[in-house]
Amino acid sequence: MMNSNTENISGYSIYNIEAKKRTKINPLEELYPALPDKKYDIIYADPPWDYGGKMQYDKSCIKSENIGFKKNIFISSATFKYPTLKLNQLKQLDVNSIASDNCLLFMWTTGPQFANSIELGNTWGFEYKTVAFVWDKQVHNPGRYTLSETEFCLVFKKGKIPSPRGARNIRQLISVPRGKHSEKPELVISGITKMFPQQNKIELFARKNYNGWDNWGLEIPDNKVKITDNSNETSIQKVLELV
Ligand SMILES: C[S@@+](CC[C@H](N)C(=O)[O-])C[C@H]1O[C@@H](n2cnc3c(N)ncnc32)[C@H](O)[C@@H]1O
Repeated sequence: MMNSNTENISGYSIYNIEAKKRTKINPLEELYPALPDKKYDIIYADPPWDYGGKMQYDKSCIKSENIGFKKNIFISSATFKYPTLKLNQLKQLDVNSIASDNCLLFMWTTGPQFANSIELGNTWGFEYKTVAFVWDKQVHNPGRYTLSETEFCLVFKKGKIPSPRGARNIRQLISVPRGKHSEKPELVISGITKMFPQQNKIELFARKNYNGWDNWGLEIPDNKVKITDNSNETSIQKVLELV
């Protein structure tokens, strides 16, 4: 029999209160900042997918961020890091308005968001073509079916593949240890840049301001940075950061 208030507190009641406090809210009055008044041949997007507030086990998340949770486990949720968007909200972004007649859209997704991603690409005016990149994160999370250790960057096409093309030898499989929450390996943007060096390019939902690219999102830093494209250096550096 429960006879004190403390005994009535469940793990979820602690989690839900903490989760609400930590959830990041979009500071804008509108759903989105304005898109540029310009057309692009290459669009690279990493949408803030909504997972229904579901917590994720994430070993990249440092322990000090979990103070307030009852158990000493690694918990993070995308919603603690940035505001997330539901599929119907993502569909409202008029990506087609910035796409040239011949344009490729590279879009990051995860296994659970695969079907939504294809629907979103179609709504934005593109046809799904293939999985351009598979990222082997070299660390696995629990998964409902198999252990989860990969993310995918899909490619969609509108019109024809932009020309002239650059490198035709970019590898699909990227094996780079996971870095900070949601941070994608630079090898992907570097690979796309080599594939289409001459085209107008924009990164949507960006958190870095890369040389040679326009960008758009809620967290764009002022300073331009160079794209690092040395895979070995990136891997070693990431491993050292995680130790
Ligand atoms: C998955 S993260 C991008 C991570 C990035 N690719 C990286 O490697 O670091 C999604 C980004 O979308 C931004 N975002 C969330 N809601 C947004 C909105 N309404 N409009 C524009 N950007 C938004 C978030 O702030 C976050 O920076």
